[in-house]
Amino acid sequence: MKVLVTGGAGFIGSHVVDRLVEKGHEVVVVDDLSTGRKENINPQAKFYHMDITSPKLEEVFQAEKPDFVNHHAAQMDVRKSIEDPLFDARVNILGTICLLECCCANKVGRIIFASSGGAICGEPRHLPVDERHPVSPISPYGLSKYTAEKYLRLYNLSHGLEYVALRYGNVYGPRQDPFGEAGVIAIFIGKMLRGKRPTIYGTGEQIRDYVYVGDVVEVNILAMEVQDGVTVNIGTGKGTSVNELFKILKERLGSNLDPIYAPPRMGELDSIFLEVSLAREKLGWSAQTDLVSGLDKTIDFFKERMGQAT
Ligand SMILES: NC(=O)c1ccc[n+]([C@@H]2O[C@H](COP(=O)([O-])OP(=O)(O)OC[C@H]3O[C@@H](n4cnc5c(N)ncnc54)[C@H](O)[C@@H]3O)[C@@H](O)[C@H]2O)c1
Repeated sequence: MKVLVTGGAGFIGSHVVDRLVEKGHEVVVVDDLSTGRKENINPQAKFYHMDITSPKLEEVFQAEKPDFVNHHAAQMDVRKSIEDPLFDARVNILGTICLLECCCANKVGRIIFASSGGAICGEPRHLPVDERHPVSPISPYGLSKYTAEKYLRLYNLSHGLEYVALRYGNVYGPRQDPFGEAGVIAIFIGKMLRGKRPTIYGTGEQIRDYVYVGDVVEVNILAMEVQDGVTVNIGTGKGTSVNELFKILKERLGSNLDPIYAPPRMGELDSIFLEVSLAREKLGWSAQTDLVSGLDKTIDFFKERMGQAT
């Protein structure tokens, strides 16, 4: 199969690309390198340095004729979406529509979409949050992800384009950017390895569902094979507070640093974790990596990267 992966130079997308290549698929990456890195791109993938909103995207589809599209390109910074909602909507909503148009014009069989479990539902009315939980995003990012899901549904009805929307929890693992605004685990590890105290916004009692990137990759592969399109939560079904997370990292890193506490940030949820039984039922998937082993792998990656940089 030929798979076009948007955002294939980014954290999650590049791992998906590696696995697709490993499984013998032909892979085409479209990425504007706004947050992705060229060194993340698998050398066996064909790379187009391009914005998904570019009119030239159609030429890529005409030249490559992919069987599947795996859509990971996005503006994914909640705070940036509050500062610049137009930019967020341009990339996440218009960019998705551009892709959907190209998919339909070029007979793509299916699109797999990286959505968000937490950002679209807003402050949960009950925990864990299942796929039928009322939707009430509290940031433009959450709204743009939900709108993109609605466009997938619309194109499915109007054009018969199959889709799978994967609503991720907090994905973590090697290659996540520790210098960005998102990805608390990468940020904490990055800081602690440099001997700096990480900042915890709010009380630190806010809960998240941390899912390892290797498990997320596997569900992207399974989503290519499922019969009917679905929208499913992808998480561990377990909640971990930021304070607990810090405590585990401190212990695994053998650090004596304490965090700095700062006021909570706008647009961020208090607590969320996901109900994940639908993914098991529909895709035969469940998270296999426990938090401590996932964190150890992530720490090893950052240690190695820092070692290379010195
Ligand atoms: N990391 C998480 O915890 C998480 C949680 C829920 C959903 N997601 C979604 O998963 C996807 C991947 O997230 P990530 O954590 O790997 O982030 P990332 O920033 O590492 O990856 C996004 C990639 O998209 C590329 N990109 C951005 N705008 C683009 C554009 N206009 N045209 C082409 N390429 C563009 C970036 O250069 C980058 O390589 C995103 O859609 C994000 O919303 C991530």
